[in-house]
Amino acid sequence: MEAILLVGGQGTRLRPLTISTPKPLLPAAGVPLLEHQLTRARDAGVTRIVFATSYRAEMFTDAFGDGTRLGLEIVYVTEDEPLGTAGAIRNASAALTGDGPVLVLNGDILSGHDISAQVAAHRKSDAAVTLHLTLVDDARRYGSVPTSPDGRVLDFVEKSANPPTNQVNAGCYVFRRSVIDSIPPGRVVSAEYETFPELLAKGETIVGYVEAAYWLDVGTPAAFVRGVTDLVLGALTSPVVRANEHGVLLQGDASVASSARVGGGTAVGAGASVGADALVESSVLFDGAVIEPGARVVRSVVGHGARVCSGAVLEDCVVGDDATVGPGNELLDGARVWPGVDLPATAVRFSPE
Ligand code: GTP
Repeated sequence: MEAILLVGGQGTRLRPLTISTPKPLLPAAGVPLLEHQLTRARDAGVTRIVFATSYRAEMFTDAFGDGTRLGLEIVYVTEDEPLGTAGAIRNASAALTGDGPVLVLNGDILSGHDISAQVAAHRKSDAAVTLHLTLVDDARRYGSVPTSPDGRVLDFVEKSANPPTNQVNAGCYVFRRSVIDSIPPGRVVSAEYETFPELLAKGETIVGYVEAAYWLDVGTPAAFVRGVTDLVLGALTSPVVRANEHGVLLQGDASVASSARVGGGTAVGAGASVGADALVESSVLFDGAVIEPGARVVRSVVGHGARVCSGAVLEDCVVGDDATVGPGNELLDGARVWPGVDLPATAVRFSPE
């Protein structure tokens, strides 16, 4: 089976991490984030994948080449200007070789759902599109997708204070090939706002494949940290992450002092180090990050080569590549340090009162 992978977005909500690296390529438990979905798709029978790229397209080629490493055939189609989700699917379809159903994946989703079962549901119903619907506690932040008792999608309801259902679009679709060919070429088209509502208006069948497996939209720093720690802790199993009984993933020559406390699903990148008496909890340290003795890092991301100096405190923060958080700084609650910035000692402190 062939697939199209949507990886052309700029990942603005994840800045500054996405200034140098597209979101789908951010290191997530030892591999690029999208490798988890890529290998799950492979294991579900996908053999050939067209990457729909735009932002920093060359970095995808560098990371995955022709796909041999993963037992896949990978080809690339690059948009000069981002064409939106459906526009990108239409554009990438020029590189498909068959006429069968096409699996379409967002490159920034972590999902444990059964892709084979979704494809089987599509083949059985012969729908125009079969989309994975996941169940969320609070659907107000998402577009919701009500279905009939036999699984047909009734509507696409935009974000609202009173969503009609807690079923939401999970960003994994199976398209009938002719539906892709009917998307207008060469312009921006949104699948969610344009293609799917138009199909319903024309009386086409869209089927909702509802499965409440692990699902996460890795759009924000908090979600990124959550996704990586869930992978390390095994809350989501991935073909490319080995089970880890200590709740910590140490890559390559990472080093952790014996008196440091590191846990909660923390991933420590190659060449990164954690000094004596430091505490690192539920965090992501990219390659070469340095946590000096006595620093405290909780639910945060520390970029490539960035340094958190002795006595500094980070909670729910992002430190960009090669930045330095000087001794004694306290950064809390969504603070973001831009790449290369050098915060002097105690430049920032949030006092408890
Ligand atoms: P934000 O800017 O933070 O909203 O992130 P994003 O740019 O990744 O947008 P969003 O999360 O809505 O995108 C969902 C998926 O579609 C991601 O895998 C994106 O890479 C991809 N995507 C979004 N827009 C485009 C586009 O215009 N072209 C292509 N090829 N992919 C896109």
